Amino acid sequence: MALTFVVPGLDEAASEKIIAILQNRLSQEQEAALVLKHAHWNVTGPDFIAVHEMIDPQVETVLAQADETAERIATLGGSPDGRPDSIIRHRDWKALDLEGRHSTTSYLKALVEYYDTFIADDRKAITELDELDVISSNIVQDHVQELEKFQWFMRSHLV
Ligand SMILES: [Fe+2]
Repeated sequence: MALTFVVPGLDEAASEKIIAILQNRLSQEQEAALVLKHAHWNVTGPDFIAVHEMIDPQVETVLAQADETAERIATLGGSPDGRPDSIIRHRDWKALDLEGRHSTTSYLKALVEYYDTFIADDRKAITELDELDVISSNIVQDHVQELEKFQWFMRSHLV
């Protein structure tokens, strides 16, 4: 898709590579919000309220990350695709496959595993963006810092 604008100091080819990396991050951030809500609704057991309530601020944060990523794509002259089918089309990471009502432990283990991929994929994007656009890299660096903290919250329930 042709860009509407190229940021001064970047060329169009580099901008398109940056946008493709950011679009993949956008889709994963959007999916993470859905997956986290799924867990928020389905956890059961003695720690229900602690885990149920721990998850909502994470949903708000990953949605804010998606907004920031999408607006960076627009700033770079691209068109962020936030449609549900775009999430599926861009998904090259392992989906969370736990369904139904399960213990907080089961959901936390599944979410820790989900965050493993999410964090590793953000870190891979940072490595690629460092060569292309440090501004976009900085945005993803801020995002992964929050994800690593959230994963620590979840791990801390499992000891
Ligand atoms: Fe809720």
